[in-house]
Amino acid sequence: MTAVRSVPLGCGAYLPERIVTNEELAKKVDTTDEWIVARTGIKQRHIAADDELTSDLGIEASRRALDDAGMDPRDLDLIVMATATPDDTFPATATKVQAALGMTRGAAFDVQAVCSGFVFAVSVADNFIKAAQAENVLVIGAETFSRILDWEDRTTCVLFGDGAGAMVLSKGEGDGTTADRGVLTNHLHSDGRLRDMLYVDGGPSSTQTAGFLRMQGREVFRHAVDNISEVIHEALDATGLQISDIDWFIPHQANKRILDGTAKKIGLPADRLVVTVDKHANTSAASVPLALCDLKENNKLKQGDLLLLEAMGGGFTWGSSLIRW
Ligand code: UT7
Repeated sequence: MTAVRSVPLGCGAYLPERIVTNEELAKKVDTTDEWIVARTGIKQRHIAADDELTSDLGIEASRRALDDAGMDPRDLDLIVMATATPDDTFPATATKVQAALGMTRGAAFDVQAVCSGFVFAVSVADNFIKAAQAENVLVIGAETFSRILDWEDRTTCVLFGDGAGAMVLSKGEGDGTTADRGVLTNHLHSDGRLRDMLYVDGGPSSTQTAGFLRMQGREVFRHAVDNISEVIHEALDATGLQISDIDWFIPHQANKRILDGTAKKIGLPADRLVVTVDKHANTSAASVPLALCDLKENNKLKQGDLLLLEAMGGGFTWGSSLIRW
């Protein structure tokens, strides 16, 4: 039996030039490098320049992804961009990327699922390809969370950073088994009852301001490992694959303790866990593609590798994808 598959052809990353260390933050808020490293694993984060917007980060990551895939932007027929920090309330930041890349056909739109955004965007792209509505799709996760942080709130401002990552998915054909290259399965969830644990206290319709990120960190942490483990098992159950089949676990990078806790709970050896939270901090929707590109840039990613992506974020939202590279 033949099956349509969304095959990854390449990826690209972009991080703003400016690096802010924990020590630098400790001069501004009541915190220490020791506390941040011990509680989160974060050592530094990249922060966008004043004139650098989410679209700028996304455009650079997209150019690199297209380059890596050997694809001309004019061959794209869809851009799905995950961001919770758009340039403007509207139009979608994806349309700015579309214009900058010189793509004049097809469609471009944003997906809003906060830190789970990239996994949601992969799922949307995969469905467009499977429904024969697109053949070449650029999936982007790009954020400037530095713009929505309360820089006086030490419980949140030390945790996040800016960045962008992108991946090209293209229509391919497989035989319908898990040996196929491409996206094998996606599983998405949200539970709006838990909104108050992680939200932004502003918006165009409510306050007419962008607002600041507010989080009950301990509560989010409590839900994270359980939700993530469950959605990973959903992906495995749907495909009949085992943890031992996973070559690389590429989780959303929020906290090293969550990554280690999840890996332990699902029984995944530490050497198959991709960790970038130490260098990038939590870049929300950008964290999964940034971690994917980090793996590729370190020459560890091989064609045929089985990748397990997962993320959890505000909403709550959470999800997983299994992709054979
Ligand atoms: O990407 C979306 C998903 N987000 C997440 O997954 C984040 C999940 N949550 C977390 O990663 C962790 O809960 C945090 C890193 C946010 C916090 O770690 P924690 O071990 O849960 O610490 P806590 O919130 O229980 O705070 C412990 C103490 C508190 O002091 P008291 O009340 O014990 O005196 C905090 O006030 O640490 C204090 N604290 C800090 N101390 C130094 C909080 N932030 C800081 C700080 N520096 N930056």
